[in-house]
Amino acid sequence: MPTIKHALATFLVLTASVAMLKAQSAPTLLVDIDHRAATSLDGEWHIIVDPYFGGLYSFHREIKKDGYFQDVDPADNKTRPIEYDFSKSPTLKIPGDWNTQTDSLYYYEGPLWYERKFDYTPKPQNRVFFHIGAANYRAKLWVNGQHICDHEGGFTPFDCEVTAALKPGQNSAVINVDNTRIEDGVPTLNTDWWNYGGLTRDVSLVTVPEHFIDDYDLHLSRADHKTIEGYVHVDHAAAGASIHVSIPELKVDTNATTDAEGRAAITLHLQGIQLWAPETPKLYKVNISTGPDTLTDDMGFRTVEVQGTKILLNGRPIYLRGICIHAEAPYRTGRAYSEKDADTLLGWAKEMGANFVRLAHYPHDERMTRAADRMGILVWSEVPTYWALQFDNPTVLAKAEQQLHEEQRRDRDKASVILWSVANETPNTPARTLFLSTLADKAREYDPTRLVTAALLVRGQGNSKIVDDPLGKALDVIGTNEYIGWYEKTPEDAANTTWNIAYDKPLIMSEFGGDAKAGLHGGDHDRWTEEYQANIFRNQIVMLNKIPQLRGTTPWLLMDFRSPVRKLPGIQDDFNRKGLIAPDGTKKKAFFILQKAYQDNSLGKPE
Ligand code: GCU
Repeated sequence: MPTIKHALATFLVLTASVAMLKAQSAPTLLVDIDHRAATSLDGEWHIIVDPYFGGLYSFHREIKKDGYFQDVDPADNKTRPIEYDFSKSPTLKIPGDWNTQTDSLYYYEGPLWYERKFDYTPKPQNRVFFHIGAANYRAKLWVNGQHICDHEGGFTPFDCEVTAALKPGQNSAVINVDNTRIEDGVPTLNTDWWNYGGLTRDVSLVTVPEHFIDDYDLHLSRADHKTIEGYVHVDHAAAGASIHVSIPELKVDTNATTDAEGRAAITLHLQGIQLWAPETPKLYKVNISTGPDTLTDDMGFRTVEVQGTKILLNGRPIYLRGICIHAEAPYRTGRAYSEKDADTLLGWAKEMGANFVRLAHYPHDERMTRAADRMGILVWSEVPTYWALQFDNPTVLAKAEQQLHEEQRRDRDKASVILWSVANETPNTPARTLFLSTLADKAREYDPTRLVTAALLVRGQGNSKIVDDPLGKALDVIGTNEYIGWYEKTPEDAANTTWNIAYDKPLIMSEFGGDAKAGLHGGDHDRWTEEYQANIFRNQIVMLNKIPQLRGTTPWLLMDFRSPVRKLPGIQDDFNRKGLIAPDGTKKKAFFILQKAYQDNSLGKPE
């Protein structure tokens, strides 16, 4: 029986080791970082796969002093054996998940170490941030052996200040990424998507002046389409710092000064402006400057709001002709991250006649929302509050809020993003409804210019579907998922299904569909065939057009994607086959049914 003394000793060791692992700084998020000059650290990094986390923990599970993070020369093993050597270790490409880069890591879930050297020349009166576009799921950064920061959440960027840790000449960066699924995670243990691990988006060094623009919100006023309003925040600025904002093409500019929090309110009065819309995705160069720091962004200006059961874009009712998309790379598969991935996926959505996409179930690469801005595609963006989280655990709520905040902060400048989704298919319990209502309020608090939604489960009674989930009260737009003809009933039953919706709000059918293996053919009732999937879509369209408050559809989904729970040999083989397009670009029959409905506007009405 362990004595008090023993328990105390363990506690002291643990606190000491945790204290020893204490990071120097908390991550932040620099807005519009893709328009800042940066030193890219993308490319080949050495790796050590470390399922036992032996590079961090000792045999008594205490934090090691001499872990893989230290900046040592492996040859210097006079006093003790150094049992690793990054320079002789294999490499992986960044950005990129590790699972699809080498077969040996296909199923790997656990800690993995990345290391590379890089040269740096300090610039006086400047600060340097280490930018990580995304690291799935938990990440720890060391520079020259100094523990800089930790981050949790696999789909949002973070920036850590490394000014003090850098030295002239050669520097070393070590990043541990651990994609172990955890119960109190966001997402939690179970997902219908592959748990791609690693540094899945760009990594770079960004140099900024002492006082720099780290956040801003510039949006068109809902009340007056000739006014842009918002604020600019300057990091480390005292009150009275001057800010200048200009939109040269619109011949408008304004000056402002920061308050004690470094924030300056901005108002721009416009003569005229081309409002951003799918048909006219007009982006303006916006210049923001303070002292030596100047930032340029490409921004569109539009308003979005609800009016009863209508969604108004720039004051006019709109129908959202959409499709769901996972961040699965076309052709090569694996986590999508590149410009080409974004252009291909959104290009297919455009070809289908879509003006809207639901980016499921987590924030996608920033290149995706930038491309949506350019291509005129409206976006539903979502945090991975997916299925059965620990809704009664305040730590989990804090993690969800953090991811939501990071998602909103990164994409607030994207005109294409109109909806923040706070959940997908979560169980209807009081703890969950409280958790998600809180999250919805947070979303609105941080960004009152967009709409809040969620994808709800619906209950059935005979031939009718009932939408009365209490979470609906907290939403501006109701999303509902159903799989009539696949997980329940027959495709034809959809056409005879009625919908009873308890909310006088716009409804988006946020998921429907069925699996089909591209090239597999048969009758309308032969599961897994293209004909069966097409039959589902034909009947869904009949049903959907009978729902008066339907204002959007995002069938599940654009392209097949890898999933650990799809094991049917010869058909699924680790892929969810509900895509309307196969990963090799083959379009299935249902693609053309939806394309026709979208192109001749025979599905859905804006009012
Ligand atoms: C669910 C879920 C998706 C999943 C889909 C399916 O509705 O939201 O993540 O992939 O159904 O079963 O294919």
